[in-house]
Amino acid sequence: LKKTLLASVALGMLVMAPAASWAADYTIRLSHGDNENNPTHFGAQKFEELAEKYTDGRVDVQIFPANQLGTEQEVAQALRMGAIEAEILYTGNLVPLAPSVGVMMLPYAFTSNEEVWAAMDALKEPLNGRLTEEAGVRVLGYFEKGFRVLTNSQRPVETMEDLDGLKIRVSKNNIAIETFKAWGLNPIPMAWAEVFPALQQGVIDGQENPYTTSISSKFYEVQKYITEIHYMIWSGPLIISEQFYQELPPDIQEALNRAGEEAADYQRIVSGDLTEEAKTKLVELGMVLSGPPKDEEKWQAAAQAIWPQFYDDIGGEAWVTEAQAVMQQAIQ
Ligand code: MLT
Repeated sequence: LKKTLLASVALGMLVMAPAASWAADYTIRLSHGDNENNPTHFGAQKFEELAEKYTDGRVDVQIFPANQLGTEQEVAQALRMGAIEAEILYTGNLVPLAPSVGVMMLPYAFTSNEEVWAAMDALKEPLNGRLTEEAGVRVLGYFEKGFRVLTNSQRPVETMEDLDGLKIRVSKNNIAIETFKAWGLNPIPMAWAEVFPALQQGVIDGQENPYTTSISSKFYEVQKYITEIHYMIWSGPLIISEQFYQELPPDIQEALNRAGEEAADYQRIVSGDLTEEAKTKLVELGMVLSGPPKDEEKWQAAAQAIWPQFYDDIGGEAWVTEAQAVMQQAIQ
């Protein structure tokens, strides 16, 4: 892993950065794993605009989309070492490095986007107390892209039995792996950067990600069926290297926090609009969409029954209890 990481970081350094037209005091390379027509990228652009504005140009933000600097987990490791400054990534790809953020990932914990927004905002400070220690990163703002939906190339999935034998990719964390196991599958954990070719070559039959990702990653070319399984919302922090952050003067830190929060507010709204558009477009492109599984309670019961199994992986039961109290209060 170390070798790949260093190679990726070195590669990242070689990628030509867009030249700033002014001399900034600080440069922030902001990495993410999505294409430029994904809501993650629109949020990144908003952050760039606001961070440069609120710092009067003393900060230059340069965005590197589509895993150009390495996979989501590799870049998060590079942030810890201060080799890259910032990243937006799926919570599920951060949790192996920063277990405490896993409280955002308990299956079926949230029923709407708005609940997740309130929870993410209320957790920002308590999480920063922990993530700086666990992974050497801090959250500037928390992005959201709606429910992760299941896509596959083989058949409509309307009941748990329809999953039988499907080769489904999940992100590389225990929560996703064990949840799919609880539904009777043997999921295939795989880095996000490898998913499209694996679908194309038939190494896997399906995957789960938000509707907008099926558009931006062109999954409609290699997938036929979508099921709204409602088990998890794509939440993703905009994180900054703690080492880099601590070298910044307080006024720049404050400006970056403000820019991160406002970029998140903007991204969540844009994402909601694009999700609705994506649903229509995916049908036009030939995909078959179905609602929640007919036996959704069965999926829910199986996934919720294994929550306690995750507590050790996400910071311990005391933290889970504390975080849930903070989230509940924010949601009410
Ligand atoms: C994943 O499935 O690994 C992520 O959701 C990809 C992403 O960050 O968009």
